[in-house]
Amino acid sequence: MFAFMDEDSVSFGFEDVSREEKSRRVKGVFASVAGRYDLMNDLMSAGVHRIWKANMIAWLNPQPGETLIDVAGGTGDIARAFQAKANEVGRRRSSQTETLTFVSDINEAMLVAGIKATDRNMPRLACDAAALPFPDRCADAVTISFGIRNVVEIDKALQEFRRVLKPGGRFACLEFSHMTHRVLQDAYDQYSFKIIPWLGERVTGDRASYQYLIESIRRFPTQDDFAARIRAAGFSEVAYRNYSGGIACLHTGWAV
Ligand SMILES: C[S@@+](CC[C@H](N)C(=O)[O-])C[C@H]1O[C@@H](n2cnc3c(N)ncnc32)[C@H](O)[C@@H]1O
Repeated sequence: MFAFMDEDSVSFGFEDVSREEKSRRVKGVFASVAGRYDLMNDLMSAGVHRIWKANMIAWLNPQPGETLIDVAGGTGDIARAFQAKANEVGRRRSSQTETLTFVSDINEAMLVAGIKATDRNMPRLACDAAALPFPDRCADAVTISFGIRNVVEIDKALQEFRRVLKPGGRFACLEFSHMTHRVLQDAYDQYSFKIIPWLGERVTGDRASYQYLIESIRRFPTQDDFAARIRAAGFSEVAYRNYSGGIACLHTGWAV
């Protein structure tokens, strides 16, 4: 269960550290695993993260001509999926309107690892979620997938997402969360604490980063607590739906 520590410390996995220290360590985690990040995601979740992400895109219902800012976008799969869906809708309607998808992330190594021959032109920006270099009310959608847990200034970041959204814009945040079925908790704990760090070591040579992943999930707010923080940042119609019994959760909200 997440609990606020004293004003100057934040959680890094099970440790409480200064904000600067968390920022430094999070950068280290993703610089270390960037090259094998996508492969590890597929292995750890047996590909299920793709289904969760497809559900997020379905909720967003991308339209041609829209602007998306994907925050903590890493290797860019959400931005690519949003663009592909909007293009598909555009083709059906014979619409020529261009969709604009930005991938932003604090870590250049993650952005670079995601560049594909087919999307070299997709705009990529290295920036902190809590200080987005975008004007007010410029985006139709803001997304963050498995990123918010790593952000040092979570509430500032939520306010930034609200600031850059146009009226009527939508916000979707996919994140690991807390299991809703006690029966499965034991098996999930065994898998998380035993298998994932072991797999991380085998695939990326970095056990500690995957130990951090598991611990940071346990320290993240519950579904209801995080929904309250999204509401406090000024979003309306805040809702969430659990995936795979709460292993992941899609939080959504609207800028009105
Ligand atoms: C687990 S990865 C998620 C990548 C991708 N969105 C996905 O769903 O696979 C978390 C990402 O958050 C980024 N990140 C961490 N702290 C951040 C911050 N303060 N601002 C922006 N990005 C941040 C990391 O660099 C990393 O690429």
